[in-house]
Amino acid sequence: MAILAIDQGTSGTKAVVVDDDGIVAVAERELRPRYLSGGGVEQDPQELLQSVLDSGREAATSAGRRLTAVALANQGETVLAWDPATGEPLTTALSWQDRRAESICAELAGHAEEIRSRTALQLDPYFSAPKMAWLRRNLTRDGVVTTTDTWLVHQLTGEFVTDTSTASRSLLLDIDEVAWDERLLELFGLPGERLPRLVTSDEVVGTTTAFGDEVPVAGLIVDQQAALLAEGCLDRGTAKCTYGTGAFLLVNLGDHAPRFDNGLTTSIAWTLRGRTSYCADGQVYTAASAVRWLCDLGLIESAAELDSVAADSSDGVVCAPSFAGLAAPWWRPDARAFLSGMSLSTGRPQIVRAVLEGISAQVAELAALTDEELGAPLVRLRVDGGLTRSRVLMQSQADLLQTPIDIYGSEHATALGAAAAARLALDPALDVADAPLPWTPAHTFTPTWSETESARFRRRWRAAVDADLTRGDHA
Ligand code: G3P
Repeated sequence: MAILAIDQGTSGTKAVVVDDDGIVAVAERELRPRYLSGGGVEQDPQELLQSVLDSGREAATSAGRRLTAVALANQGETVLAWDPATGEPLTTALSWQDRRAESICAELAGHAEEIRSRTALQLDPYFSAPKMAWLRRNLTRDGVVTTTDTWLVHQLTGEFVTDTSTASRSLLLDIDEVAWDERLLELFGLPGERLPRLVTSDEVVGTTTAFGDEVPVAGLIVDQQAALLAEGCLDRGTAKCTYGTGAFLLVNLGDHAPRFDNGLTTSIAWTLRGRTSYCADGQVYTAASAVRWLCDLGLIESAAELDSVAADSSDGVVCAPSFAGLAAPWWRPDARAFLSGMSLSTGRPQIVRAVLEGISAQVAELAALTDEELGAPLVRLRVDGGLTRSRVLMQSQADLLQTPIDIYGSEHATALGAAAAARLALDPALDVADAPLPWTPAHTFTPTWSETESARFRRRWRAAVDADLTRGDHA
C-alpha cells in the first residue's frame, strides 16, 4: 500500500507517502497564522487548501508510485464558514489559538457544568463551538460553519463529514453517545446549524482525483490523536506529548470517558473497528509559537539555535510562555505570558532557557494531573514534534517529569497515525495493534536532576504562575 498521509497543521502542512515499510516521500509547506491584537488568530482557508494540494502533489510525484489512499489529519478546533453549494469559504479560518470567543464562554459560564458533563471538555474558546458562535454573531450567518477538516474533505471528495475524534473537540458532541447534541447546539446559539455526518477513522469517506488517479480518502483523524496512534499508545495509561505549535499531552483511557475534576479534558482518541477509545488530554497552547516569538524578537535566528543559545541555567528567570492563555488546570483564556526574576545580568541565554523550561514545566503540570486521575504515575513518555530536536527542552522535560522520555523515531508521527487509520480502512483483516508501523526511539532522555531539585523548580514555577494569575489585570 502507498498511502498519501497529509498532516494539515497550524504552522505548516506535511505530506508523506508511506508504504508498508515506512516513509518513501515527504513534502512540506510552511504556514503563518495572522496574530491580531485582542487575541485573534486567523488563517487563510485557501492557503490551507493550497498547502494540502501542493505538498500532497509534490510527495505523490516524488514517491513515483500509484497511491492506494489519501489520509488526512487536521488541526482540530479551527473553524470557518463556507458555502456548501460552491465550496467557497465565506470567512477567514479562526484558529484554535483564537481567544475572541472568550466573551461567548463568559456568557455561558452558568452552564459550564452541564457542558462539561455532556462533553467531558471545559468551556473555553480553544474548542470549536464558542468560535463557531462568535463567527455567526460577528462575521456571517450564511453557509455552514465547520472545522477545517470538513471543508478540506469537501474540497477533495464533495462529502460533508467529520470524524469522531475531531467532533469530540467541538463542545457539541455527546461524548458517551458519540452523537451531536441538540441541547449543546441550543446553548451555543447554533440551533438548526447543519453539522457534518460523523464518520469513523477507519472508514472510506469518498474518493479524490486531487493528487492524480482517483483514490479513496480514508483515515480522517484529529492530529494529536493521530500521533497517539502512531506512537502505539493503545493501552490505557500509555501517553505521548507532541511539541508542535502547541504541546499536547494525551493519555489513552480505554473504553470510558471520565469527567475529570482537576481540569483535564477527555476526548475521543478514535473510533476504529466499531469501538470508540478515549484519551485524557492536556494542552500547552504555545510551544513552537513561543519559540517563533523568540525568533521574531531577534533573540534567536531559528529553532535550530535554541540549544546553542540557551544558558545552562535560567539563573532565577521564570517564564510562563502562555501567549494564548492557559488551559488545564487553570483554564484562564485571559492569562498572558510573563518573564519574572530578571536582573541586569539577564541576557538572551537565560531568557531562551526560561522559555524552554516554561514549556516543559507546563507539560509536567499536565502529567501530574493525569497521574492524579489515573492513580498511577507515568512511567515513560513518548514524544514527537519539531521541538523534540531541542536537547535542552527534552532534558528539562525528563528532569521535571522524573521519567524517561522516548523520542519518536520519525518527524512525521501525525501523518503516520493518519496512515495507520487509513490502513485499517483498506484492510478489514488488520488488527488495530498492527496498524501503526513499528518504531524504536531515536533517543531516550533520562532525568539528571534529583527528585528534590525537580520538585523545588516546579514549586517555584507554579507559585510564579499562580501569583501572576491572581493579579488584577487578568481578572
Ligand atoms: O488542538 C490544536 C492542535 O491539535 C494543533 O496542532 O500540530 O498544529 O500544533 P499543531
